[in-house]
Amino acid sequence: MTALLAQISDLHLDGTARATRRAVRVMDYLRALPRPVDALLVTGDIADHGDEAEYEEAAQILTAPFPVLTCPGNHDVRAAYRKALLGLAPGDRPVNQVHHIAGTAILMCDSTIPGHDEGRLDTETLGWIDATLRELPDGTPALIAFHQPPVELHHPMPDSGRLEHPEELAALLDAHPRVAAVITGHAHTAAASIFAARPLIVGPAITWTLRLPWESDQPADLDQPPALAFHILDNTHRLTTHYRAVL
Ligand SMILES: [Fe+2]
Ligand SMILES: [Fe+2]
Repeated sequence: MTALLAQISDLHLDGTARATRRAVRVMDYLRALPRPVDALLVTGDIADHGDEAEYEEAAQILTAPFPVLTCPGNHDVRAAYRKALLGLAPGDRPVNQVHHIAGTAILMCDSTIPGHDEGRLDTETLGWIDATLRELPDGTPALIAFHQPPVELHHPMPDSGRLEHPEELAALLDAHPRVAAVITGHAHTAAASIFAARPLIVGPAITWTLRLPWESDQPADLDQPPALAFHILDNTHRLTTHYRAVL
């Protein structure tokens, strides 16, 4: 079976018309595709301040005829994210969710440390990932998604807030060859690398695009269009990613 997934990230919805317009533009594009995606992954920084009103807007904008899978980012606030976006019971523990999409297990993991930009998969989340992967039927591929990339991207901004203790996740992936790739956001630039011998794919941002150090000293480019990624996981469990700007 082949899974066709879209990924958006870093909407930073803040109540401004600009943020709303950019998110709506991308969702309109996805809803109008002649072949709908099997699911949309939203890899964090959905709200800019973590207010309930921002999640109420996000819930409206992200309404779609395909499943929408989310994880929080460093700008998200667990309590409001749980209540106003997911409709879950209150609480401040990590929000980890597994979804079964087109024969693939997609683990949307909470890598946030409340009040910090950098991320970490805490003991509870690492245990949940391990147990969830162990319970899957033989032959079921998995994807793991969370917010902060676990490797250097060679830009001081995302590198100062990346996933800490990535060796803990790498050890877990070594024990679970069914994990085909790791997917993140946070960097506001479409990027690709390798982590634990898997593809590490970083989705572009909706809100603004990161200028690279050799492009400019001013990191935030507000003029580039919002962008998304399409991921195809084929029946050999190989991931292919296409990036698309939405003008
Ligand atoms: Fe962000
Ligand atoms: Fe972020």
